[in-house]
Amino acid sequence: MHTVELKVNGATHRLKVEAEQTLLGALREQLGLTGAKYGCGEGQCGSCTVLVDGRATRSCQTRVASVAGAAITTIEGLAQDGRLHPVQEAFIAAGAMQCGYCTPGMILGAVALLKRTPEPSESEIARGLEGHLCRCGTYPRIVRAVAQAAGTLKVT
Ligand code: FES
Ligand code: FES
Repeated sequence: MHTVELKVNGATHRLKVEAEQTLLGALREQLGLTGAKYGCGEGQCGSCTVLVDGRATRSCQTRVASVAGAAITTIEGLAQDGRLHPVQEAFIAAGAMQCGYCTPGMILGAVALLKRTPEPSESEIARGLEGHLCRCGTYPRIVRAVAQAAGTLKVT
């Protein structure tokens, strides 16, 4: 066991972790942040996605020790001053979820995508999120929500 300092959603935590501990495990089991989901555990589905220094990162494939000191954002930390992020608002407005299992990872993937590409076409949105699987098949509404959020972010 060793101690790592993890900055999550603006708060610093000192955690005792095994060398093999994943970021997903630390977030869910040690910090009680269960928004990031365990899907495949193999980097293939995107349900565990969080932001690490603004980059969409598969937390199931990330050793917690490797992100010590980095700024980590989970879905729980995306709202600011009691206001949902425009991507969260757009997902709700477009009804872009059914069971919601993929939604936290999908939203954080979309936030990172819009940072890289502020005015994406529909095909750029689909390509940008293609590593995120939605078993409920809400892809058309997800693409619509991300396009709508891009429009909102452009005028704010
Ligand atoms: S659980 Fe991490 S990519 Fe599927
Ligand atoms: S809304 Fe159910 S997996 Fe995407």
